[in-house]
Amino acid sequence: MNASTTTIMSPSLGDENVNTGLNKDAREQIAGHLSEILSDTYMLVIKTHIYHWNVVGPMFHAVHEMTEQQYEDLFKAADVIAERIRALGFRAPLSDHSGPSETVVSRAAKAESAHEMVHDLIDGHEAAIRKMRKAAELAEKHDDFVSHDMLVGRMTFHEQVVWMLRSLVTE
Ligand SMILES: [Fe+2]
Repeated sequence: MNASTTTIMSPSLGDENVNTGLNKDAREQIAGHLSEILSDTYMLVIKTHIYHWNVVGPMFHAVHEMTEQQYEDLFKAADVIAERIRALGFRAPLSDHSGPSETVVSRAAKAESAHEMVHDLIDGHEAAIRKMRKAAELAEKHDDFVSHDMLVGRMTFHEQVVWMLRSLVTE
């Protein structure tokens, strides 16, 4: 591979010529927040899938069905978030210690009872919502309405999921 091919295949962070009225510093900060949110979203895809497979007991059907809808939405959302990072002129992270690695998978599988699984998922979704709220505030401050709008959509999903999961484990 010659040098120019290497450059095309592996552009450095932020070297893309984006001229949409958002300055580079703002785009970089927002892309950084979105990269963390992408990792969280993938971690939730894995965790939700593992619980979908392994849940047992009287809550089996409810948790199994609910988690299927959730990991499907989360998986599609990861694509939307990664593509927003690209539209901001940055590379979607290709390797990241907090990404979908073996470590995350083994950490993800620690809950054993259906109750513990649901509570673990609630914690994960709430942590993601808190990060998204900060990122949405930042995006709005820099007039990045597209990222803000996407994040509001994601928060709407996660807040609804938290409500549903909590309703499952509330007597
Ligand atoms: Fe399944």
